[in-house]
Amino acid sequence: MGDFLVFHDIIIIGAGLSGMRAAVEASKRGLNVAVVSKVHPVRSHSVAAQGGINAAMKITDNWEDHAFDTIKGSDYIGDQEAIETMCREAPEDIRELERMGALFSRDKTGQIAQRPFGGAGYPRTCYLADRTGHSMLHVMYEQVLKYGVYIYEEWQVVKLVVEENSIKGIIALELATGKLHRLCAKAVIMATGGYGRVYRTTTNALTSTGDGMGLVLDVGAPLMDMEFVQFHPTVLDRTGILITEGARGEGGYLLNSEGERFMSKYAPNKLELASRDVVARAEQTEIDEGRGIDGCVHLDLRHLGVEKINERLPQIRELSMNFAGVDPIVEPIPIHPGAHYSMGGIMVDLDGRTPVEGLYAAGESACVSVHGANRLGGNSLLDTIVFGRRTGAAASDFAEASAYISCNIDPALSTAARMIADILDRDGGEPVYKIKEEMQNIMHTHCAVFREKGKLTEALTKIEELRERYHGVSLAYKGDEYNTDIVSYLELGHMLDISLSIVKGALNREESRGAHSRLDFPARDDENWMKHTLMYKKGEEFEIGYKDVSVTKYEPTERKY
Ligand code: FUM
Repeated sequence: MGDFLVFHDIIIIGAGLSGMRAAVEASKRGLNVAVVSKVHPVRSHSVAAQGGINAAMKITDNWEDHAFDTIKGSDYIGDQEAIETMCREAPEDIRELERMGALFSRDKTGQIAQRPFGGAGYPRTCYLADRTGHSMLHVMYEQVLKYGVYIYEEWQVVKLVVEENSIKGIIALELATGKLHRLCAKAVIMATGGYGRVYRTTTNALTSTGDGMGLVLDVGAPLMDMEFVQFHPTVLDRTGILITEGARGEGGYLLNSEGERFMSKYAPNKLELASRDVVARAEQTEIDEGRGIDGCVHLDLRHLGVEKINERLPQIRELSMNFAGVDPIVEPIPIHPGAHYSMGGIMVDLDGRTPVEGLYAAGESACVSVHGANRLGGNSLLDTIVFGRRTGAAASDFAEASAYISCNIDPALSTAARMIADILDRDGGEPVYKIKEEMQNIMHTHCAVFREKGKLTEALTKIEELRERYHGVSLAYKGDEYNTDIVSYLELGHMLDISLSIVKGALNREESRGAHSRLDFPARDDENWMKHTLMYKKGEEFEIGYKDVSVTKYEPTERKY
């Protein structure tokens, strides 16, 4: 079943912004770099980022204010050293993006335009209308092509190969042929994005299944802060389609069934531009208390006028018309909160290092942690660019200093081949989609915007039952070519492990902080819970550990907007 045996200095798994930014950095150093992606690079989920990327670009702004807003947004559990690094380096990374050819909307003086975003004390989100990620991803792909990075596209990684706590390579499935290949490397960077698809309603692509987090758990490295899941406040009714925070940044109102701008009750100063956790909770409260409209509240843009909507939010208008039959110029948009972003992820240091030698992670799959318990809008694109670059550089240093060690990758190939043969041989089991749907439903109803012990305990029992049933699934299609059933099977295994990590972390953290809101523990508890949660997989069991939060100079205070 095995086919290629290839060697690269660095292999990057995932072709979104963080992965391709890392690839560019390593290729500039003359290293032999490969990107392995289950989709064509420009179909990576970064393409869907709409509203923008934060940086203190103006002389009337400064990176320390950006850092303060981010730390406050994180509900004081983000690592302050990492946040300071990100905010300090942001402006130069934006200028570099421009040099690469990225387009940004401009203000009247010709400078990069910046719009207000939630939780920020200054309009510091650079954007290209409502298509910022699209522009950035295409530019990064051009750079990857320019630097001659090898791209294995439509390849699914089946296994990381680790010997004595040191990464040796990967086993990957080529979808077109069904062949398993051996790829050896000095360093491997995980850049596989988030896991939004563990929830029923999500802004994330079908491919956002958290594969990298699952693969890393399997080799003994921890995930960090998985209980912190961001629910974006404005998701188009019944679709999961993101309606950018830029719509509120441009002046949009949130209204309940009584036509009230209800945010005045929850965040009297910042209103619709409070941080996302605050706005999502406010909406959910209005809906739960009977002031919703068919399970939604309204995002009203009508007062912005035709010109502004068409210039700054053209995609939002198009999506609302095509998918909800609502033209925001004449009607408010029905929206509700939906799973959007993972604040948690693979535990890494400031340069993307995991505890496994030579194994790195960046972007949404990683937890540095710059987002803590709640990420500010516009900081995820920034995270991909700053930490993609830093991780690419650190992995390059490591690769340059390493000789090729003999890599005994064949046993891993045999294990992977046996696993795939077994699942293809199995008949009469449950289909993958059934378990996936049950997982998405339980996560949606039991571990979303509001949480409490009873429901979390039920969710834990259910996810454990689903993990048992997973071992008995069988696939409908048994062929070699484009067997996406195998991909769905592998993805589901990772999603179940991730769901378990989220629920266990949420049950364990007996406080409310940022996006983790416990009805039975409504207050933040700095005395007991000012610490990161680590989640380890030991065999089929999960174990919890803790890590200190890095504090430089920002003392935790009560968060008000
Ligand atoms: O609302 C948005 O445009 C999303 C931005 C983000 O998640 O950073």
